[in-house]
Amino acid sequence: MCSNCDCNSSRCRSNAKMFGGIGCVLVLVTVIAVLVVTMTDALGADDIVVTIPELGSLLGSVGKSGWSGKDIYQFRGIHFAESPSGERRFKPPVPRSPWSGVKDVRENDITCPVITFMQALTPEQLEERDWEDCLHLSVYTKDFSANLPVMFYIHGGGFTNGSARDHPPGYLLENDVVLVVTQYRLGALGFLATNTDAISGNVGILDVLLALEWVQNNIRHFGGDPSRVTIFGQSAGAGIVSLLTMSPAVRDGLFHQVLIQSGSVFSQWGCERHPVLRARTIAQQGGCSDVNDLDTVNKFFMDLPVMKLLEITEFSSFRPTLGDLNGVVPETPKKLWNKSTKIYPAMGGVTKHDGTFQLANIYNVIGPQLETSNDAIQMIEDISIGLGINDDTGYISVMSMHMFFTQEELERGNFREMLPAIVDMSSNVVIKSPTFRFLQLNSLRNPQKTFLYTFDYAGEPTRFGYGHPTDHLPFNGGVHHSDDNIYIFPTIPLNAKDIEIAKKMSSLWTSFATTGIPRVEGEVDWPPMTRKTGPYLHINETCSVSDDFMKEFTVTKDDESNSIVRPPAISKL
Ligand SMILES: *[C@@H]1O[C@H](CO)[C@@H](O)[C@H](O)[C@H]1NC(C)=O
Ligand SMILES: *[C@@H]1O[C@H](CO)[C@@H](O)[C@H](O)[C@H]1NC(C)=O
Ligand SMILES: *[C@@H]1O[C@H](CO)[C@@H](O)[C@H](O)[C@H]1NC(C)=O
Repeated sequence: MCSNCDCNSSRCRSNAKMFGGIGCVLVLVTVIAVLVVTMTDALGADDIVVTIPELGSLLGSVGKSGWSGKDIYQFRGIHFAESPSGERRFKPPVPRSPWSGVKDVRENDITCPVITFMQALTPEQLEERDWEDCLHLSVYTKDFSANLPVMFYIHGGGFTNGSARDHPPGYLLENDVVLVVTQYRLGALGFLATNTDAISGNVGILDVLLALEWVQNNIRHFGGDPSRVTIFGQSAGAGIVSLLTMSPAVRDGLFHQVLIQSGSVFSQWGCERHPVLRARTIAQQGGCSDVNDLDTVNKFFMDLPVMKLLEITEFSSFRPTLGDLNGVVPETPKKLWNKSTKIYPAMGGVTKHDGTFQLANIYNVIGPQLETSNDAIQMIEDISIGLGINDDTGYISVMSMHMFFTQEELERGNFREMLPAIVDMSSNVVIKSPTFRFLQLNSLRNPQKTFLYTFDYAGEPTRFGYGHPTDHLPFNGGVHHSDDNIYIFPTIPLNAKDIEIAKKMSSLWTSFATTGIPRVEGEVDWPPMTRKTGPYLHINETCSVSDDFMKEFTVTKDDESNSIVRPPAISKL
């Protein structure tokens, strides 16, 4: 299965074929005015150089596609912006200057600073390089002379984690697309805001926009068609994708279609309403002398060594912020949507148990209390009203209680008994509802070109726990948050059955990018969302179409096999 991996391995490389003379000729004939591809004899047989006249030369590598072993030309970590360190910290990104010589982009370059990654470095390694110089993108193509649709991926990780490295091309490039995976500043470096010139806000989003400009200017050198760019993202990445459809900071023509996997800017975690207050609070906790004075706060954050900045924000959450000086989020997402006139074909959906990660987070904090309580209602109420949404009338809470529980269940207040419904509530609030909301609104503008799914396939691998233990939890991950990505980006070896799902996902995702209509051969046609709640596609071993997406909001409670609950279920009754 290593041909599915990131193709850093020597095996992939030694199998690789050179970008041969005939390809060169084709390239030169078709795009001679803008492109020079140089082969350098001194390089290894599996190396490949592309020259972008306006920028410089890039040395890439050759890998293999997921199951049929096609050659993939890989350029990992092309810097599109100058390092946002020093005086450039918290500032809008600046395009990278051209370089001379051949720049080696055979291996993935660094991720943007994340505390868990940086803490693992030795003091010498920390000094060795500028770890904030992380604004790069990776380009993967099979054919330099083609004019293929471009899929531009924005990774997730809660706006504080994630990297291009985690998203290799092997599955998607079984089909004919060019894949671009961008990085953007994470955590405080990308999303701290005092809404002043010094820390103007949403520079992480500006990073993505600059990467998209880079694609417009340069992707034709890699066989990509800049007039057919589909942006897609998962979780926080989906939050960014959906935000870009309505932000007035986005110019026309930067991208043409959108695909959101499990997230949207309409979620609680999609937009920070009080960024300046948050910045002051973090500064205070970090030891800033006077948080009332924003100049002092700005200077405090500017002067911190990056490691220290990561440390004092380790337990803070970050997200796009309201009221930034760059005009990215001048108003709440709801108002932005209302004012926006842009229309995009859209595809998107959720995983069947998209909220188990959030419930695990909650259980890890208050599990013991929940297990012994005969009044788990307070917690349920906290979930059902959306982790902080104002619900002073109690209406949302009352309606969800009514939908999910009998009078007897509410009376007993037993956590285990109510667990399946609690999984649903968690999924609904955190992911399903905001994702659905975005697609529903989009379908009203673009009914023939909005496609909704639920990913139902429970394969062998899962992202449940993200590497942390889960045995103590009284529930399974089910079809967990980001399990869909297991079949889109080769990161975990797959068995034969799972590979069939990866083939389906690759076809659905790339056909949407190519034609605007997601299709997979041998499966039912996926109808667009022409009504307010459907239809939509179940992605599974056999795909099927359902009519009413509302049913997805109680899917765990309605599952009679109760498969989400781990034994000993209801042991405390
Ligand atoms: C970031 O993600 C990696 C896994 O990809 C994980 O090991 C690490 O703990 C995460 N760091 C943070 C700060 O969440
Ligand atoms: C949305 O737009 C309509 C006009 O098209 C306006 O009447 C309404 O107040 C707007 N709503 C919001 C929340 O801005
Ligand atoms: C997915 O398909 C499998 C095999 O047909 C089936 O057992 C499972 O119940 C399906 N999942 C859902 C959510 O329908």
